[in-house]
Amino acid sequence: MTSPSGDGWQPDQYARFKAEREQPFYDLLNLVEPVLGGRVVDLGCGTGALTVALHTKTLADETIGLDRSEAMLQQSAQHAGSGIRFVRGDIAEFDGFGGSGLDVVFANASIQWVPDHASLFPRLAATLSPGGQLAVQMPANEDHPSHAVARQVAQESPHAEALGGFVYRHSIESAEWYAEQLARLGFVDQHVRLQVYLHRLPGPEDVIEWVKGSLLTGYRDRMSAADYEAFLADYREQLLSVLPDERPFLYPFKRLLLWGRMG
Ligand SMILES: C[S@@+](CC[C@H](N)C(=O)[O-])C[C@H]1O[C@@H](n2cnc3c(N)ncnc32)[C@H](O)[C@@H]1O
Repeated sequence: MTSPSGDGWQPDQYARFKAEREQPFYDLLNLVEPVLGGRVVDLGCGTGALTVALHTKTLADETIGLDRSEAMLQQSAQHAGSGIRFVRGDIAEFDGFGGSGLDVVFANASIQWVPDHASLFPRLAATLSPGGQLAVQMPANEDHPSHAVARQVAQESPHAEALGGFVYRHSIESAEWYAEQLARLGFVDQHVRLQVYLHRLPGPEDVIEWVKGSLLTGYRDRMSAADYEAFLADYREQLLSVLPDERPFLYPFKRLLLWGRMG
């Protein structure tokens, strides 16, 4: 088993469903209010293209994109400049660059990879200035076969051995949990919603292409190339046996959108 480096990410695979993946980003961005001259961080910024949209919308002086994947950061370099810069770092250790002066902490489709939200959220809240905003979007589709079958296959031999017993689960709590957590942490305004994005994919096999660019990177990261190919073959077979063979294929995808403003 290889150690998780964060470089199971393949920017090209992730970009395959660009429009579908970007819609929740823009829905989240719509919740954020401008912070003229402020300081913004984009946690798990990926290729950085959307960091530019965040920077433009907030009217910030400085926007810092943070990611732990070297492959993603290589792509982001082209978007640096005019108040935008990118740094390598782990959200699990993020401390606001040693301060508490951030006006917006933004995380689109990234913190579901970070465990223990009961300790992560207080840490993120502590990096905000008074009136600062936290905006988070996370997939919440763990109960769809696309995710459930991956957990199942990961527990079967020989994959369980190749993964050293690891089974990937996103670190997501309920919508109610986040609403209470935001209130307890001092967010005086909040918006918490669960939204279903209904994707029309050409066929059920395209669900595999979808999760290869996101969920399965959590497995790819921890296996040799040969072990991952074997895992993928079993995943494909089992998933296609439970999904209806419809064309177009309807893939409902639930996401949690959270926004809060500190008092
Ligand atoms: C699904 S992509 C989203 C990228 C971007 N936010 C977007 O909306 O296009 C998730 C990103 O989070 C990053 N990521 C995941 N866990 C991380 C962690 N613990 N620290 C830093 N980045 C992380 C990955 O490297 C990846 O670039």
